[in-house]
Amino acid sequence: NQLFKSIPGSSISNVPRRTSKVTVVGVGNVGMACAQTILTQDLCDELALVDVVEEKLKGEMLDLQHAAAFLPRSKILADTDYKVTADSDICIVTAGARQREGESRLALVEKNVSLFKKIIPQLVKHSPDTILLIISNPVDALTYVAYKLSGLPPNRVIGSGTNLDSSRFRWLLADHLDVNAQNVHGYIVGEHGDSSVPLWSSVSVGGIPIISYLKQRHIDYNPDTLSELHRIVVDGAYEVIKLKGYTSWAIGYSVASLVKSVLRDQRRIHPVSVCSQGFHGIKDQAYLSLPAEIGRSGIIGVMDSPLTDEEREQLQKSAKTMAEIQKKLDI
Ligand code: NAI
Ligand code: 2OP
Repeated sequence: NQLFKSIPGSSISNVPRRTSKVTVVGVGNVGMACAQTILTQDLCDELALVDVVEEKLKGEMLDLQHAAAFLPRSKILADTDYKVTADSDICIVTAGARQREGESRLALVEKNVSLFKKIIPQLVKHSPDTILLIISNPVDALTYVAYKLSGLPPNRVIGSGTNLDSSRFRWLLADHLDVNAQNVHGYIVGEHGDSSVPLWSSVSVGGIPIISYLKQRHIDYNPDTLSELHRIVVDGAYEVIKLKGYTSWAIGYSVASLVKSVLRDQRRIHPVSVCSQGFHGIKDQAYLSLPAEIGRSGIIGVMDSPLTDEEREQLQKSAKTMAEIQKKLDI
């Protein structure tokens, strides 16, 4: 009376199953945007959620599980106990305080460092081979903190950094020029936030350097227009926070793209937060974003992109700011 009968001679119980597992710590606005984007993009077989607020955690888990009929198959787990995260390929950390209106990301550092002291050792204990993907702010300083607390090699501790700022930048340019943002290439590097640096010298549209592109299309520009575009990028998060209280969708997509690059070994180049020491004349062990090749082992390499003197100077200034903050951290 079995509906499914195995074919005589087949052996289906001993097949080794390779499952990819992603953990998301913190089921607030950002954690849930990451979780749902990862699920809809079919990036993992198992998703574990962790938070300290038990009821909210269970509610979020059930709400996602109830979408099973509309999603690719994934097992969704949730617990306040880190055992649920065991053997994760990637652990995404979104837990912690967020900015209030007008507050800088850097103002969150002390509160979130003390949370990281509880979170990071637990993640590494249960998944010693994991890759940590840090999102909580200030993301650059906290990526450094996660690196220190985890004892993992530096290629396996990544901060989402300016992957998001670069998307804001590409969207603005694309909107301005009325082309697809995926055909606009350009990087914002440095701090995720106020001292970020736009690499205008390498911006291109459909492979044509931006200045030639503007000339060919007879579009007037002056350096002020370019710095105004960067100012809008920097103010972007403040504006969204003022309007809706937090940012979530764009960071969710940014994180899913990073998870895809790792789990599918895509070797795409993303500007992410890494140790910048030794690049572009930076002497301190400052964490900030540089374009990096990302694959299954995490950060495969950091690009030593050619910069103009002005870009290098701005980046070094951003590195100084980050190094000063890192020095003061109690870790
Ligand atoms: P939220 O307040 O909605 O969620 C934070 C979650 O963390 C809550 O569910 C809370 O219960 C949980 N949490 C607190 N302590 C915890 C602990 N010890 N262990 C586990 N979970 C804990 O905040 P939201 O909007 O989700 O933002 C989260 C963080 O992400 C903030 O630091 C924010 O600034 C940052 N962020 C970073 C972005 C980036 O580009 N790197 C973009 C957007 C936000
Ligand atoms: C963002 O840039 C607030 O860091 C967050 O959206």
